[in-house]
Amino acid sequence: MSISVVILAAGQGTRMKSSTPKVLHEISGKSMLFHAIDAAQEISDDITIVLYHQATRIQEEIEANYSGMHFHLQDAKQFPGTGGAMKGVKTKNSRTLILNGDMPLITKDSLLALTSGEADINMSVIKLHNPTGYGRVIIEDEKVLEIVEQKDCNKTQLLTSTVNAGIYAVDTTLLEKYIPALNNNNAQAEYYLTDIIKMAVDEGKSVNPVYVEEEEFKGVNSKLDLAHAEEILQRRIKIKWMQAGVSMRLPETIYIDSRATFEGECMLENGVSIQGASRIISSHIKTHSVVEASHIENSDVGPMGRVRPNSKLVDTHIGNFVEVKKSTLTGVKAGHLAYIGDATIDEGSNIGAGVITCNYDGKNKYQTIIGKNVFVGSDTQLVAPLTLADDVMVAAGSTITKDVEQGSLVLSRTPQKSIKNFFYKFFGKK
Ligand code: UD1
Ligand code: MG
Repeated sequence: MSISVVILAAGQGTRMKSSTPKVLHEISGKSMLFHAIDAAQEISDDITIVLYHQATRIQEEIEANYSGMHFHLQDAKQFPGTGGAMKGVKTKNSRTLILNGDMPLITKDSLLALTSGEADINMSVIKLHNPTGYGRVIIEDEKVLEIVEQKDCNKTQLLTSTVNAGIYAVDTTLLEKYIPALNNNNAQAEYYLTDIIKMAVDEGKSVNPVYVEEEEFKGVNSKLDLAHAEEILQRRIKIKWMQAGVSMRLPETIYIDSRATFEGECMLENGVSIQGASRIISSHIKTHSVVEASHIENSDVGPMGRVRPNSKLVDTHIGNFVEVKKSTLTGVKAGHLAYIGDATIDEGSNIGAGVITCNYDGKNKYQTIIGKNVFVGSDTQLVAPLTLADDVMVAAGSTITKDVEQGSLVLSRTPQKSIKNFFYKFFGKK
């Protein structure tokens, strides 16, 4: 069955206490809204996003990452509320699923459950011990009668523990009929989308309650909610990758971005942080290392290594306190304390402790190219732009500023001088 999706994202999100629009706050490296769009894309090719507060900023962000999205600007001054948000929205398929932009934890399976069956309307409901804040779902003889918002509830209705989770799959013709007929005669003087339920019931249409997991349908309204949602998503991400064969030591201490991927047999030790759309293939990331948006294949990093964005490590060993940035290393060993930035280093090369690529002159960044089997001695500065050809040896403690030919030894040190018995002349004999 083809289905359209509308994502409501016009709300201000005052409780986030932030200048960033609520739906652009990130969970595991991806904004809440993008989590919702990704779930919607799994089931639909017709997605409309309703915007109002900071509409331009949100739309730009979406367009930079997705194509083919439709946008609808809510007239929130005249028609506030979730029903007002739907005013003027056109969808192309016979069913329309309405989602909230601040529910980043919904899974494709739940969306499929909500969009299956024959009922005119499927609506998500949750049973809660504490229903405070939610619209109450009035059910009699297992039939939904209406949704009453908390602020409009009488005393008995307030006791109802079955609440509206806020997601609906509706026959599109009914939606087109009911939305223009909504009014704002309620405690909040808003146009409530939830009123379409009573309208459908009054016309003898079928409204089917779909019971859903609270965890998935929790709206994120504050930074505390954001942190809780991230914990839940992190647990899911790690379970997924462990099931796919990734080993994790103390998984509770590991962070993995929702865009990161793993292939082959990988090992992540405790405290590791894998950020961005990193791709890790058959590699071992050791304790407290950080990998940001990089490709790591057949390699090991850390403990306490840092691989910054746009790096590619293949068949490479990166040891403790080594930082790599925007560099490609193939078959390289850099065991300790080095900075490798804007560099390309080829097979069999060894980078000694304390080596630094001086890639920045305060204005521009420059490349360092190191060939095959190059031995860079400890505490060397490689002042870029610089090319070391294959089979070069760099003596420890050198500052290299000019390109070096294949097969050469290069050194730039002040010659060593010893002055015999200077110590005793200076301090006297003890
Ligand atoms: C809504 C439901 C309530 C349900 C709850 C579940 C209504 C009237 N009430 O209440 O029954 O229990 O969700 O979380 O629908 N939005 C707009 N434009 C607006 C107002 C809201 O686009 O003018 C968007 C928000 O950005 C948000 C979603 O609609 O994504 C829900 O709005 P929110 O204000 O959170 O509704 P609730 O009061 O929580
Ligand atoms: Mg809400």
